[in-house]
Amino acid sequence: MHLPCRPADSNKSTFGSVLNIAGSVHFRGAAYLSTVSALRVGAGYATLAAIPPVIDAVAAKLSEAIFLPLPQDGATISRDAVFTLSSQIKSGTICSFGCGISALQNASVNLSETTDELLNIFIQKRTPLVLDADGLNLLAKSPISFRFGNRCVMTPHPMELARLLHTDVEQIQKNRLDAAREASKKYEAIVLLKGHRTVIALGEHGEINETGNSALAKAGSGDCLTGVIAGLLAQKMEPFDAAVLGAHIHGLAGEMASKDFSEYGVLASDLPSYIARIIRDLK
Ligand code: APR
Ligand code: MG
Repeated sequence: MHLPCRPADSNKSTFGSVLNIAGSVHFRGAAYLSTVSALRVGAGYATLAAIPPVIDAVAAKLSEAIFLPLPQDGATISRDAVFTLSSQIKSGTICSFGCGISALQNASVNLSETTDELLNIFIQKRTPLVLDADGLNLLAKSPISFRFGNRCVMTPHPMELARLLHTDVEQIQKNRLDAAREASKKYEAIVLLKGHRTVIALGEHGEINETGNSALAKAGSGDCLTGVIAGLLAQKMEPFDAAVLGAHIHGLAGEMASKDFSEYGVLASDLPSYIARIIRDLK
């Protein structure tokens, strides 16, 4: 799998634009990690769409992002956010949705409705999409049978996939590849099932990622993976290839970071700079 090329005669528009809808009062770091990772993998622009307290926190750490403030409802985005976002999702925009959007396992009715409306917009506009974390949990609760036309990379961990398939983690872990294939067919999406030996499925087709280690078993590393895949999509990679290469790079970054900090000591916020070093060495 090759990295997207970087032509000499290029500018930031050449490398695409990620619109990252992420974060809540309780999970501000998820918005930072996913946004910075999209930029570290080479996207031309990354816009963070989030409620004001999340934007204030991320803006203090990340000079390079663009910020789109969204209307707030309690700890997370309100239904009115759909109107703000709809006008921003243009042809060619890549979206990522779900990292840290709610602290609550039983997210509010409003957030469920907001999510359904947003997912409909992504499908209507044929937006390439990474769907993660509570975006997946809300999809699992939706009464609507969404099908994403294989333009969406879903990135569940085993519990999130169990919710999507209405089963339990034990069943998922018994045959990880088959579980990912089943979800891929159900949602017409690329399904990347996380964990030691992440699997990536598109219909019957499946691949197993061999990179990564226990350094990645720490809160926030999954948010980096979301950003990596969104950043590769922005550079016009096919969604399946972006998922496979993204998992490979993310795993190698964890391995390289462990050499400096040990598998105990790596922080998710260490990963973005190692992602850049891994890309340098892959070239
Ligand atoms: N070996 C290799 N890779 C691993 C290992 C391991 N032992 N353990 C974890 N990983 C990798 C997974 O494959 C995945 O890429 O680390 C990443 C962990 O991702 P998540 O399980 O999504 O964990 P996390 O980053 O904590 O997710 C935080 O989830 O709760 C929500 O909204 C919250 O956005 C937040 C997000
Ligand atoms: Mg996660």
